[in-house]
Amino acid sequence: MKILSVVGARPNFMKVAPIHDELTKHDRFTSRIVHTGQHYDEEMSDIFFEQLGLPRPDEYLGVGSGDHADQTAEIMKSFKTVVETEAPDLVVVVGDVNSTVACSLVATKRQIPVAHVEAGLRSGDRTMPEEVNRIVTDRIADLLFVTEQSGGDNLRQEGVSDNKIAFVGNVMIDALVRFREKAAQTPIVNDLGLEEGSYVVMTMHRPSNVDEEDQLEVVLQTIQQICEDRPLVFPMHPRTKARIEEFGLDEELSRIDGLQVLPPQGYLEFLALMDQAGAVVTDSGGIQEETTFLGVPCITLRPNTERPVTIREGTNELMDLAPDAVSRRVTERMGQRMNGQTPELWDGRTAERIVEHIDSRFHTHAVPSHEESR
Ligand code: UD1
Repeated sequence: MKILSVVGARPNFMKVAPIHDELTKHDRFTSRIVHTGQHYDEEMSDIFFEQLGLPRPDEYLGVGSGDHADQTAEIMKSFKTVVETEAPDLVVVVGDVNSTVACSLVATKRQIPVAHVEAGLRSGDRTMPEEVNRIVTDRIADLLFVTEQSGGDNLRQEGVSDNKIAFVGNVMIDALVRFREKAAQTPIVNDLGLEEGSYVVMTMHRPSNVDEEDQLEVVLQTIQQICEDRPLVFPMHPRTKARIEEFGLDEELSRIDGLQVLPPQGYLEFLALMDQAGAVVTDSGGIQEETTFLGVPCITLRPNTERPVTIREGTNELMDLAPDAVSRRVTERMGQRMNGQTPELWDGRTAERIVEHIDSRFHTHAVPSHEESR
């Protein structure tokens, strides 16, 4: 059985790596990797392949950046050719990026079953491009692998039949479990002159936080306030860097004492930075989950989350982008590591369950055809 797994953007690599590893343990699967090239820089892409032990992609589409319609269309056009030549039995897509929805559409239209890993998450906020990608992908996928109970609940509420849904846990945590020790050996925290538990890590790249000048100004004020009390490291996403330059905010940023702006970090370096941080301030999806697993306090600067288990059981909380309140809350939560409960099935064995599930679906019952599954 030939399985084609799609990666496109940075948050995909650590989800596909454990699945690919697991598939290659079984003779009955051939695992092939397609990289759409949505992210293409060495530091946004190549380093993840090296560090996660992913083989070079079998197919590289090189679509690059663009607006959403153009990028999605380019991926669809190139992926169509891949599907024709590779003729896979199943396409695996992960997460919620443009590559996820584009490849799901192409495969579905060619009657190739699609498995969506990290299905069912909903922020309820359709201004987020990822929310639209999630809804469309889940509507057309044949197998829906869910990371937390809310994912299954959302899908059932949307009328998806139970036999398509499998609660398997969080595959990104598989990578984290596997690489945590190796990450701890990277010297980054020391090299940056930081002390474990005493600094804050920030990431910020959502269009809603960085694409408007006023909003980005408030992000800078928040950094400034936090830095009055403690060092902050900010591995900066290319989108954020581009906006800071566009709005001429670079000088203001460079004047903040205690702030270290870094280029995007490798998987191991970033994991080490998070694991040893006193607190994390972010607007990322995956980081809310990783900090929950690590027990590190996380403040998410968004009005909503599609990952409610990180709040209910984990270390995450949502806050508005308000400099005073955020810096006060950072102070309150600094260093309060929680070694409590980990969400159900976030145990490092999700890829195993995914592959078992695919195996049993394909070998004992056929995957529901597109007709039947509607
Ligand atoms: C994408 C995902 C988002 C994910 C994020 C992680 C969608 C809709 N969004 O957003 O869910 O959280 O990736 O990083 O798919 N750029 C580079 N080098 C690169 C990649 C991008 O310089 O390797 C720059 C380009 O100028 C581009 C901008 O970053 O215009 C944004 O990249 P894009 O892939 O469009 O979206 P992200 O904001 O990265």
